[in-house]
Amino acid sequence: MKAIILAGGNGTRLYPVTIPINKHFLPIYNKPMIYYPLSLIMLLGMKDVIFIVNPGDLTDFRKLFGDGSHLGMNIHYRIQEEPNGLAEGLVLAEDFVSENGICYMLGDNIFFGHDLVRHMADAKIEIEKRGGAYVFGYYVKDPERFGVVEFDDNGNVLSLEEKPKRPKSNYAVVGMYFFDNKAVQIAKKVKPSVRGELEITSVIEEYLKQDKLKVKLLGRGFAWFDAGTHDSFLEAGEFVATIENKTGLMIGCIEEIAYRNGWIDREQLKRLATSLQKTQYGRYLLELVE
Ligand code: TTP
Repeated sequence: MKAIILAGGNGTRLYPVTIPINKHFLPIYNKPMIYYPLSLIMLLGMKDVIFIVNPGDLTDFRKLFGDGSHLGMNIHYRIQEEPNGLAEGLVLAEDFVSENGICYMLGDNIFFGHDLVRHMADAKIEIEKRGGAYVFGYYVKDPERFGVVEFDDNGNVLSLEEKPKRPKSNYAVVGMYFFDNKAVQIAKKVKPSVRGELEITSVIEEYLKQDKLKVKLLGRGFAWFDAGTHDSFLEAGEFVATIENKTGLMIGCIEEIAYRNGWIDREQLKRLATSLQKTQYGRYLLELVE
């Protein structure tokens, strides 16, 4: 399975900061926001990633990740001319989606929790073996900000709604989705919503209609941030700083993961670390080398 990471959008909720800079480059504590979703893809063992980016940001993304070879990966880019909505990434990356489906991640979502990668791996295996769509729900106090999933008493999914004024539950669908390759054709048929966007919720709803949707709930042991508002951006940074400074271990350190995955060797890691050695981030990598 390959992965698509959405890194376009307007970032209007982070204005004025994001008028001149794409939010995915902003630091969540000590590394760019976009490292966090990428690191999860890497932890799942996926080497092939395509970033959906705004036309004006391609050069900067290339500056940050190049073709991914320094991480032992294959990183591609696809331009989204206008931020027409989350579902459009599936259409733009149609030729990239392979037969065994796609992992679809939002570039501004940050996850942390015990066994998170195992949950993701379960989703990946399920889609590869049986197809359909596999998404995760998370209990939040402000569901009206998100796609919301409603359940019956037996845990069956009843409905999905994007940013409902009166949410039917407190479960938000988080920005990490696993789809079979039919998602592309489904996305092509999606019509713009009232707010004018091609909603990913519409794609998921179609799977629900076909009885091919699985929703797994992430419990209280998980942290999830949609880092797209000033408060959640700050909270995510503080969260990462707290965990990292307590444990001395980094969250979302892509060079470390590439090394531990065996995608780069010690010499390659040393080169990457040396270029960053003035920072705590670089020193952390140098310690790994040593
Ligand atoms: P959003 O946070 O929903 O949208 P946005 O980034 O434009 O921000 P705002 O609402 O503050 O204006 O997007 C979720 C993620 O998807 C984020 O990482 C940006 C990305 N995205 C795209 O890549 N293309 C799009 O068309 C949209 C709307 C978002």
